[in-house]
Formats: sequence, structure tokens, C-alpha cells
Amino acid sequence: MNEAIKNIMSRQTIREYTEKQVPDELLGIILDAAIRAPSGRNTQPCHLRVLQNKDLLDEMNTDFKNIVGWDTPAYTGWDIRPVYHNAPTFIFLFAESKADMAAGLMAENIALAAHALGLGSCMIGSIGGLFDDENGAKKWKKILDVPESWHFLLGLTLGYPNEKPPFKDREDGHVKFIK
Ligand SMILES: Cc1cc2nc3c(=O)[nH]c(=O)nc-3n(C[C@H](O)[C@H](O)[C@H](O)COP(=O)(O)O)c2cc1C
Repeated sequence: MNEAIKNIMSRQTIREYTEKQVPDELLGIILDAAIRAPSGRNTQPCHLRVLQNKDLLDEMNTDFKNIVGWDTPAYTGWDIRPVYHNAPTFIFLFAESKADMAAGLMAENIALAAHALGLGSCMIGSIGGLFDDENGAKKWKKILDVPESWHFLLGLTLGYPNEKPPFKDREDGHVKFIK
């Protein structure tokens, strides 16, 4: 199979990471791949913030717990697992407008580029709860140096995989040819 197709077909979400930090060289390639994603009329509305400071990641998790509570989407693992899955790198995706399509394309470029380079990732939508809260948004947009007017769209964890999760099948019937 073609290498690019093989990469798409074999990517899976990773939620267990080794402590090894993502090397700057690989991070640079992944961020370039993100920025290459298309956007409507090439408006390029999306902006990335990269956080590798463990103290801040833990503070984000504490705020997430206090503001959003434990009743969050699957896989935060209640008290056991932080919302960022202990990944050494976390990428925040913001947009100047609610450009969720452009952000999604960027996110998938990040996930695929990471996978091609032997890294794992997990998209983190649940952290959006932090930005839905007025105080949470104010605090974290300041820390992340983004204007208050920008919309948070998605988070992504990044790191070296420390698990090989079972492959998740996809349902049939999502494609129909119209004749
Ligand atoms: C928009 C979006 C938001 C997601 N949010 C979370 C999240 O908050 N926490 C998490 O652990 N996984 C999250 N995921 C990962 C999905 O659970 C995962 O992609 C899905 O179960 C399919 O598994 P796969 O990526 O291994 O094929 C998210 C995925 C997407 C696309």
C-alpha cells in the first residue's frame, strides 16, 4: 500500500506516553504540516499554542477539574488520568472565527504527521469546557497569549506512545453511491 495511505489507515489515538519530550526538530515538522492545512479562501484563521511546561499542564488539569468537574467526556479516567493524558506536549488550536472546519483539517494534519514520525497524539475536545467558562477562558487565554476574541477549538496531546491500543473498527454504511 502507498505509504501515505498506510499512515492514514494505521493512525490511532494514543493516551499513554513515555516521559521523553518530543524533539524540537520533529515538533517543527509537525507544526509546519499543521500550518499547511487548507482553509476557506485561504483565510488561515487558525493559531496554535504549544505548551510543554509540566507545571502549567498540571495547573490546567486542576482548573479543568475545578471548573468542568469530573463528569466530562470519556477517557479523562476520572481521578486517575489528567485531561492531557500525561503527554509531554499539548497543542491548543484557536481560531479568529468559529472556523471549526479549518481547525479540524489542521488537527488531522498534526495527528498524521505525528504518526508518520513515530509519535502518538490524542485530540482533546473536552478541554473546551475550560474555555466555555468565563474565568477559565480569561485565565488560560492570558497564559497562552491569545486575544480574548479568539475561539478555542481543540487540544491535542503529543508524545512517544507507551501503549498499543486495540484497533477501533469503523461502522459500515457511512458511504453511499448515488446512481
Ligand atoms: C473532535 C474530537 C474530540 C476528542 N476529544 C477527546 C477527549 O477530550 N479526550 C480523549 O481522550 N479523546 C478524545 N478524542 C479521541 C476520540 O475518542 C478518538 O478519536 C475516537 O475514539 C476514535 O479512536 P481512534 O482515533 O483511535 O481511531 C477526540 C476526538 C475528536 C475527533
